[in-house]
Order: sequence, then structure tokens, then C-alpha cells
Amino acid sequence: MGMPGLITEAVRERLDRVGAVPREQDLYDGAGTDFYERLVGPDRAEIREVLALARGADGPVLDVAAGSGRLTIPLVRSGRRVTAIDLSADMLAHLRRALPDHPLLDCVVADMRDFSLKRRFALVVIGATSITLLDRGGRSLLYANVRRHLAVDGVFAFTVAGGASAASLTVPRDQEIKVPGPGGEETYLFSQQVEEGGQARIVNWLRAADLADGGEVTVLTSRLRVLDHKVLARELVDAGFAEPAVSPVRTHRGDDIVLLTTTWAGPSESEGG
Ligand SMILES: C[S@@+](CC[C@H](N)C(=O)[O-])C[C@H]1O[C@@H](n2cnc3c(N)ncnc32)[C@H](O)[C@@H]1O
Repeated sequence: MGMPGLITEAVRERLDRVGAVPREQDLYDGAGTDFYERLVGPDRAEIREVLALARGADGPVLDVAAGSGRLTIPLVRSGRRVTAIDLSADMLAHLRRALPDHPLLDCVVADMRDFSLKRRFALVVIGATSITLLDRGGRSLLYANVRRHLAVDGVFAFTVAGGASAASLTVPRDQEIKVPGPGGEETYLFSQQVEEGGQARIVNWLRAADLADGGEVTVLTSRLRVLDHKVLARELVDAGFAEPAVSPVRTHRGDDIVLLTTTWAGPSESEGG
């Protein structure tokens, strides 16, 4: 069940007009996971960049908020040992199904703000701008946990929207999108509501065909922070990491994504410290 209050006003109005009521569903649980797969599964963005980082890393890889394994799967196929963590057992179930009993893959249901794995990693990666799922307190916890899991000279890398894509996150939007499905393309309504003076956004998806039916309509929801790479770079430095390298990620859809890459810059810790 999704958190209460994640339905945008635009979606509420659309539902009201047909006498329907929303049934909130977190994008990353239950039926949300199948939709996420359909929406994002074919997206190859970031894969080339993450594989390049992995080639330069001498040791295992930690894929944080790995979800259904969009990045994990190519990493494992390239011969890397990968631990995939995600808060959603449903998302990880997709990944486990894609690579059943793979000797190079460990899937762990865990919160990226609070995890303890018995291994350190040469590369810790967070794709798909998933760091924006966390508020400031959550990001502090994440940085501390990443630090504890980085091998000496380990690399921490994550993506965030840049340029025009970042700008599009701060304006409300309501549009129809086509989503591939087993029975062909389906039309969904996408709704983005900007909150906290542009610092957060709520996103909703619902099947257009469900609107005509009235009754209860499943609305997939997520809530995200709006962050740019400068803010995140400052946070990294404050948390003891080196000033990150910032590089563009090329996507065929023309989205602007930037990759931040850093290492631990503070004093080295003793084992288990
Ligand atoms: C945008 S998806 C990214 C999935 C995958 N990395 C990709 O590139 O497609 C975000 C993922 O973050 C997970 N997630 C959300 N909050 C989390 C948390 N606090 N800790 C770990 N994972 C979390 C969700 O379950 C979801 O699978």
C-alpha cells in the first residue's frame, strides 16, 4: 500500500469527473513493479557508463536500489560479482527471475539508508537517479553506509538529472504516454505535481482505459526530491568524499543525465571501524 496523500490534484480531478476513486499503489511494489518493467525495462541509459566503471574496478560491485536489475543484469553478464540491494522484494523478484541462481549475483532486500553486508565493494553504484528517492536525512545515512562498504580506493557513482531534464522536473505536467505491454501499447496518464516550492515532486500513472470505468482506479505513485548535481557534490564533500567528477550520460531519448563519480577522501578506517 502506498503512503497516503500521493495523488496529484490533476489526477484527483480527472477521477472525480468520472465518479472514480483512487487506489494508491507504490510504483515499486505489487502491480507497480510490472508497470515499472514495462516503462523502463527497455531503457539502456547508463548501462555503458556503469559497465565502464566496473571495468576499472578491481572487485565486487554493489548495485544500490537495483530494482528489477536494469543495470545489475548487464553487470553480471559482463562477469562481475554483484550484490543488488533494494527495499522492494517484488522488484528484486523480477531480477531473481531474470538470473535464477546465478553464482555471481546476490540479492538482498535492504534499505539504502540502513544496510550491513559482509563485504566491501570496489564499486558502489546507484542508477536511474534513484538517490532522489531520499530526503536530506536519508542521503546522509546513505553516504555513511556507502562509506562503510567501500573497499580501499573503491568508487562511488550515481546519476541525477541534468540540464533540460532537470528543469522539466520543476514544472507540473499532465500528459498521455504510451507504454508497451503484452497486448500491445497502452495509454497511461502521467501526472507530475511539484511541491515544497520546487524541491519535491509527486508522480502518478494510471491506465487511461480505467478512467472510463469509474469505480476504483489503481494509481501508481512515487515521491521524489528535486536535486541537482551541484547540491549533491557539496553533500558528498561534506560527508568526506572527494569532489566528484561530473560527466554527461548519453541517452538515445535525449534526456540529460549526469554521472557523479567519487572516492572516499577522509582518513582511512580500521577494519570494522
Ligand atoms: C527508479 S528505480 C531504479 C531501479 C534500477 N536501478 C534501474 O536502473 O532501473 C528505484 C528503485 O529504488 C528502490 N527503493 C526505493 N526506496 C529505497 C530505499 N530506501 N532503499 C533501497 N531501495 C529503495 C525501489 O524499490 C526501486 O526498485
